[in-house]
Amino acid sequence: MSFLELAKARFSTRKFTNQAVEDEKLAKILEAAKVAPTAKNLQPQKIYVIQSKEGVDKLNELTRCIYGATTVLMVAYDDQMDWQNPLEEGVHSGEIDAAIVATHMMMEAQEQGLGSCWVGWFPPAETAKVFALPPNIHPVMLLPIGYPAEDCHPAKLHNQYREDAEMVRML
Ligand SMILES: Cc1cc2nc3c(=O)[nH]c(=O)nc-3n(C[C@H](O)[C@H](O)[C@H](O)COP(=O)(O)O)c2cc1C
Repeated sequence: MSFLELAKARFSTRKFTNQAVEDEKLAKILEAAKVAPTAKNLQPQKIYVIQSKEGVDKLNELTRCIYGATTVLMVAYDDQMDWQNPLEEGVHSGEIDAAIVATHMMMEAQEQGLGSCWVGWFPPAETAKVFALPPNIHPVMLLPIGYPAEDCHPAKLHNQYREDAEMVRML
């Protein structure tokens, strides 16, 4: 399958079965995270694999967007490791790096025949507190992964693309 075919086949999975994600598939997804590009290759990402009932229960208290997944990846960055742009104060790469890492994992999950959903609808600071993360670690997104339920379909927003003419500018 070409990359574009894989990208078009992916959609946000919002209903998972309780079938566990195999360790080999999880290992591939984490490998995709490892090889993602980050600013200056500083690799400030931290990926928390949440599979314990206690951990998933905590997430379900924090957000309604776990969708029955029994494996959730939380992508965070370390503010002592990310790139600081020397040309403008306060511009740094942590969230960008984390988003690229998360995208790699989302696409590798698709490649492994798994569904996933990018979740931003959660409280990052409160989540860090609930999981007792060190103060330099900032959660950016959650990625529930697993097998889509039989009646899980793409939502209406999927496939609603803006026209190239609106989005692309030739300079
Ligand atoms: C930054 C970001 C945050 C998102 N947050 C959520 C979320 O909290 N809950 C959810 O169900 N989907 C969330 N999504 C998924 C988008 O709604 C979805 O990708 C978009 O509507 C396109 O649909 P598709 O993924 O099925 O192609 C998020 C996506 C992105 C990129």
